[in-house]
Amino acid sequence: MTRRPYIVGNWKMHGTRAMLSEARAIDRAAQRHMKVEVALAPPFTLIHPIHREAEQISVGAQDCHQADGGAYTGDISAAMVADAGAKFVILGHSERRQGHGESDALVRSKAQAALAAGLRIIMCCGETAQTRESGKAVAFVKKQLKASLPAPADAPADIAERITVAYEPIWAIGTGNVATTADIAEMHAVIRKLLVDLYGEEQGREVRILYGGSVKPENAAEIFAVPEVGGALVGGASLTADSFMGIALAAGEPSDH
Ligand code: 13P
Repeated sequence: MTRRPYIVGNWKMHGTRAMLSEARAIDRAAQRHMKVEVALAPPFTLIHPIHREAEQISVGAQDCHQADGGAYTGDISAAMVADAGAKFVILGHSERRQGHGESDALVRSKAQAALAAGLRIIMCCGETAQTRESGKAVAFVKKQLKASLPAPADAPADIAERITVAYEPIWAIGTGNVATTADIAEMHAVIRKLLVDLYGEEQGREVRILYGGSVKPENAAEIFAVPEVGGALVGGASLTADSFMGIALAAGEPSDH
């Protein structure tokens, strides 16, 4: 890892204000582990309260709408989450692609809106078990990612600062089935090549690629030792400071690579 590892907790639809104490504990621990960049994406309702108190961690959203504003009941714009204190937004998560029918084109338009609002983005990609079993995982992820990321002509100049990619095989999310280190290495290498092809050597090399899917303190060190793994997008294990910071700690350890 050349840049600081990036460890992001995706709280999904978990957390009321009772969880603020956990966010505080994560923030305090992050202040002691500056070798790692720690961030949390809580539900929308907790973005502002966590942002207001946080001294070290950055706070992000789990989605935003593609429009600047308007008659979109129940939706929230990139500018609104930025106003609440969000510094980044997770886009294209499989739970939104599958549960809300988000297409690659829609995800790309959300990415444009988020970048225009000054947010960083974490762009998710990943295949189903069926796609992997049929031997088409690499082709699928390449196509999905290429169609979801901003086209090179529309990308900001500081792409490596503004964009992070997260590889999250759907069959590994919340299942306890982590991808093998060989599978992670293969897919991250494919994603790296795509990023270099799209955005050029200088920027494409520097974009961090996170792995997500059943990352736990127990398996984190092994995953972070895989080439091209620049951190993790963590679901279940980010809900307590103990397990989340266990993962962050593993990322801060020097690896063999
Ligand atoms: P789990 O860590 O619970 O498998 O979730 C991964 C994920 O979807 C993070 O975005």
